[in-house]
Amino acid sequence: MQIFTSLLNSCLNSSLYFIIFLLFFSSFSLLLQWWKHHRHKDKHLPPGSMGWPYFGETLKLYTQNPNSFFSSRQKRYGDIFKTHILGCPCVMISSPEAARAVLVTQAHLFKPTYPPSKEKMIGPEALFFQQGAYHSMLKKMVQASFLPSTIKNSVPFVDQIVQNMVPSWTNTTINTLEEMKKYAFEVAANSAFGEIKEMEMEEIRELYHCLEKGYNSHPLNLPGTFYWKAIKARKVLNEIIRKIIERRKESRNYGGGLLGILLRGGRGDQQQQQLTDSQVADNLIGVIFAAHDTTASVLTWVLKYLHDNLNLLETVTKEHERIRNKLVNENRGLSWEDTRQMPFSTRVIQETLRSASILSFTFREAVQDVELEGYTIPKGWKVLPLFRSIHHSPHFFPQPHKFDPSRFEVPPRPNTYMPFGSGVHSCPGSELAKLEVLVLLHHLTLKYRWEVVGDGDGIQYGPFPVPKNGLPLKITLNKR
Ligand code: HEM
Repeated sequence: MQIFTSLLNSCLNSSLYFIIFLLFFSSFSLLLQWWKHHRHKDKHLPPGSMGWPYFGETLKLYTQNPNSFFSSRQKRYGDIFKTHILGCPCVMISSPEAARAVLVTQAHLFKPTYPPSKEKMIGPEALFFQQGAYHSMLKKMVQASFLPSTIKNSVPFVDQIVQNMVPSWTNTTINTLEEMKKYAFEVAANSAFGEIKEMEMEEIRELYHCLEKGYNSHPLNLPGTFYWKAIKARKVLNEIIRKIIERRKESRNYGGGLLGILLRGGRGDQQQQQLTDSQVADNLIGVIFAAHDTTASVLTWVLKYLHDNLNLLETVTKEHERIRNKLVNENRGLSWEDTRQMPFSTRVIQETLRSASILSFTFREAVQDVELEGYTIPKGWKVLPLFRSIHHSPHFFPQPHKFDPSRFEVPPRPNTYMPFGSGVHSCPGSELAKLEVLVLLHHLTLKYRWEVVGDGDGIQYGPFPVPKNGLPLKITLNKR
């Protein structure tokens, strides 16, 4: 009985403490938010709502379709509005001119910003977290390994991956997103490392898979969580990469891929910019991260849009038949030059990138108070250029919900089309991503047809918007 009473007492005590803590926490958050907002009261902040204390409008953003979140506020407040997401005051912008100011003309006033848990996972010395001289030095090296003149040599490799992968799908139902991830990973890892032993690649594949799970999970660093396992996997990856670097340095053969370029310290062989092993590792992993889910999501969307628009599929197929006839006549495989002769498929890709806008926005942080279109963005506030809102604006893209590749027969208005970003941090991998889509379309349209299994509608978000359930497709041989 005594034990029961003391247990009851301790329960009551702990509930009381919990309620007091909650009250204290709520009042503190309220006060903090009030203070944060009112210390800027002399500034002309953009219109908008900061939502609830501490939580801001986070719940609203994450419990509804993000597009409705953006468009309802854009209608109410205009192209620049403030909000409060994930504990941070933010300014969202959907005017091309303001987006250009943030990403290009005044880029030095806005630094890239990522949650520390994500930065730790990819590697803090990776390109996208950097600014200034270190960023431009790295960017030159990364760009060098993804220039058309470099990736044209990868066409036979990419072609071979597709030719090995596609036949295994015949008469089966595939999870398209998962298959596209395998494809995108092979291309990205090969571009990053160049040639490496298959056993090493197998290890890297497994560790990367673990890393990816942790990246997309809650950052709880407790034994057994995905995050904890991912941190461990990241350390092992570092060790593997360190050994590969050591081997290449000892043999004085820096090898191909981005790794070769990073080890040479640039394009030439002069070794002016010697990077540390951890800088090299962070950038190899970073590039694979940037290339993997993005490209896989776009590949998945292309197949969905062509499935839903059979007339377009017919035109794409005819384009590839013409190229196939040429290859048969000349008795050779697909080349980079052939991929430059696919204008209709290229417009399908452009329209897919616009319509799906898989990177709906990006994040920057104001490094000082910045004046933008008559408003002040206070130092430390996050700024989100909303690519998707711009791509879906009827002013720039009439009938934005219609999938219409022909709109790209004329170039879009400047600064209205940014699927690969803009300015100093724009994507160095755009040509490689497009190449992957073209090669897949070439083989798939010539020999196969695909049918969505299930209703095929709906979108899942994780981390990028993709068709629901990863787009299950039944693949069959094309009898015509
Ligand atoms: C269709 C697929 C892809 C899309 C839609 C895409 C989109 C983007 C966007 C919008 C940015 C700019 C982010 C910002 O400004 O904050 C970016 C940056 C980047 N992308 Fe891609 N990307 C794709 C594929 C790739 C590939 C294949 C690579 C491999 C090389 C790659 C590597 C990178 C890197 C390294 C950055 C950071 C650049 C910097 O900070 O300077 N991406 N990407």
